[in-house]
Amino acid sequence: MNRPLALVTGASKGIGQALAQELAKHGYDLFLVARNPEELALVSQSLSSSYSVQAEWMAIDLSVADQQKHLIEQVQNRFSERLRILVNNAGYGLWGWFHELNVEEQLRMLHVNVHAPLVLTHALLPILARNGPSYVLNISSSTAYQALPTMTVYAASKSFMVQFSRGLHHECRRLGLPVSVTCVSPGSTRTHFIDRARMEPLRQMADRFGMDPEQVARIAIGAMFRGKAEVVPGALNKAGAALARYLPKAWVEKAAANIYVSKLNKD
Ligand SMILES: NC(=O)c1ccc[n+]([C@@H]2O[C@H](COP(=O)([O-])OP(=O)(O)OC[C@H]3O[C@@H](n4cnc5c(N)ncnc54)[C@H](OP(=O)(O)O)[C@@H]3O)[C@@H](O)[C@H]2O)c1
Repeated sequence: MNRPLALVTGASKGIGQALAQELAKHGYDLFLVARNPEELALVSQSLSSSYSVQAEWMAIDLSVADQQKHLIEQVQNRFSERLRILVNNAGYGLWGWFHELNVEEQLRMLHVNVHAPLVLTHALLPILARNGPSYVLNISSSTAYQALPTMTVYAASKSFMVQFSRGLHHECRRLGLPVSVTCVSPGSTRTHFIDRARMEPLRQMADRFGMDPEQVARIAIGAMFRGKAEVVPGALNKAGAALARYLPKAWVEKAAANIYVSKLNKD
């Protein structure tokens, strides 16, 4: 059967897994990408049996340029007739003073959070345009809306995602391309994010105020199909983004620093 297909990066767990599930509910076949093959196999098996869709997977490290290229070739060779959705979700944060975090590690994070979405979108946009109506869904973060001391590079990478997505959203419209680009900026969400970013002292607060990934995914996919340029899921996160827009930057940054810096190096 020639069902439409969605490529979801970072689909082995967390928000990406929930997005893949939401797309399976909408009848999309899936091509799931992350590094861990065991987790990918489990997710794809569970989704294909629960929703009667085909879910294939590929284990790759998106921080490596050659592996990004390999993924693009796979999609071009195998799915060019039916790729209709690209979800750039894979990403992570690093918590700590900029000068103390390893610079190579920060560059690897930029490769996953910024370089991979840019390169994938650039290579696959012509296919999406040909197969339209199609969608690009980019996962940013509420940290995109203000500088965030001790997550300085992560927040900057997510600001890129907002501006990149919005720019491309308008480019597609102006060019009359049948591709809608949506950026989603979740706030704290109960996933493995805290572990990867080594943010254990902030876990309690994140769990208390966080959303479930399934909730975020429902809102994200709904906004994507409605052709929205940008969405911030959850009332609390919307209020945070609005305050960051209207209050003096220095106040907002100081308030954010008070939370993040005060917890650094405390267990
Ligand atoms: N959770 C939050 O509070 C929150 C808030 C705002 C935005 N976000 C954003 O939401 C997105 C998903 O994060 P999450 O919260 O769901 O975190 P998560 O549970 O840690 O999931 C991250 C996903 O990305 C994959 N990934 C990480 N590094 C990768 C790499 N080098 N190559 C390929 N895949 C990689 C992971 O799989 P492998 O480890 O197997 O590679 C996993 O599937 C990220 O872009 C994150 O910045 C999260």
